Amino acid sequence: MNRRNFLAASMVAAATADASPQLAVNGGAPVRSQPLMGPNWGPQYYDDKEQTQLTEVLEGHNPFRFSSPPEKSKVARFENECAARMRTKYALAVTSGTAALHTAMAALEVGPGDEVILPAWTWYSCYNTVIQAGALPVFAEIDESFNLDPRDIEHRITPQTKVIMAVHLQGNPADMEPILEIARRHGLKVLEDASQSVGASYKGRPLGSMGDIGIFSLQQSKTITAGEGGAVVTNDAYLFERACRFHDVTGRPSTGGKLGFMPGLNYRLNEFSGGVLLAQVRKLDTIIGDVRRSARRVYRGISDLPATHLRHLPDPDGELGTGIFLSFPNKEARDRYAEAMKAEGVPVSGPAGSVILPIVPGIEQKVTVTPRWPSFTSERGKSIRYGRECCPRTIDILSRFAGVMMSPKYTERDTDDAVAAIRKVYPAIQRG
Ligand SMILES: Cc1ncc(COP(=O)(O)O)c(C=O)c1O
Repeated sequence: MNRRNFLAASMVAAATADASPQLAVNGGAPVRSQPLMGPNWGPQYYDDKEQTQLTEVLEGHNPFRFSSPPEKSKVARFENECAARMRTKYALAVTSGTAALHTAMAALEVGPGDEVILPAWTWYSCYNTVIQAGALPVFAEIDESFNLDPRDIEHRITPQTKVIMAVHLQGNPADMEPILEIARRHGLKVLEDASQSVGASYKGRPLGSMGDIGIFSLQQSKTITAGEGGAVVTNDAYLFERACRFHDVTGRPSTGGKLGFMPGLNYRLNEFSGGVLLAQVRKLDTIIGDVRRSARRVYRGISDLPATHLRHLPDPDGELGTGIFLSFPNKEARDRYAEAMKAEGVPVSGPAGSVILPIVPGIEQKVTVTPRWPSFTSERGKSIRYGRECCPRTIDILSRFAGVMMSPKYTERDTDDAVAAIRKVYPAIQRG
């Protein structure tokens, strides 16, 4: 090849490398013809293990957990294996994540006059159970991990603050070191809600095991599930005893403890659910391994893209990889990304599974079960303001991110398509 031909060929090659494939949203060929479908994790792993557990309960004719001795009860065996997996001394199975939160509030003795700090972006149950305890919810901003921003906690603490609720959302651990440090310094309790991150960890420690008490939802959209279900975990014998009594209307002691009567509710789990959860908890690490493998393939596949702005991961090794979230300068660019990705057959969604609670009209208006409810009757309760002005950063962050949701059952082809679509669309949106 002479020098002139070599230069011409080089120019063509350079032009080809720079040429961006036409986006499907502009009429180009899509990456996929069948859209990539998102989650529903635990139920995809149902097999003869869950079937056997259910059959044994049917044939045993004792679906009430306390009809069987603890060594036979499936609920009790699930609790033992759950505690072992979460590296806590105790675990208590309950009927839902909401029941687990309510039980944890009672265990922590949260009541009228107390304040609980919680993230402005989380699920209704976190707020509702503070209200049900008669206490005052105090919202703090999230950061780009979508979780409680440790820098926004301290100025919200008052002499009435009792608990910081650290919620680990969409598979990503909250930054627990600074949160625990603030709690220690102010003598506050920490309640960890790992409902959306069952099985994830923070710096080697399972989520739920670091605070004074932790809870999980085991509802269908969570890592493992019996359709509904929940669990409370703790290392504290006193909190555990209170939780056991609160979850069982008879106030039955769990360990022959010396506590007196507790006017609790009935949040006891039945043996059918206990059996399914026993089978599921044994699969937890398989499910997590599968989803993390998919997520890491995608992270690797986009790692050389210039100027990517990912969701903040306080511990990249500990997160589940629920979604590969990228940020944009504003909502308008984020929405264009979402539209273009959908056209490629790799739909994305904004942060999901939670709500910006302070702007929910009923919450902004401080609706309670009756107007006499104690949460808002004190001077402090009357003066606290919710609404947009209490969480502008939360609203901004959530409007700028979108993510491809992962599934533990994705094939390599699926994750390669996710990578191809992001590589095709993200730079185009960045270019504007
Ligand atoms: C963060 C969080 N906490 C608590 C709950 C309540 O769990 P459940 O639906 O099992 O009552 C959920 C449910 O999605 C949740 O996402």
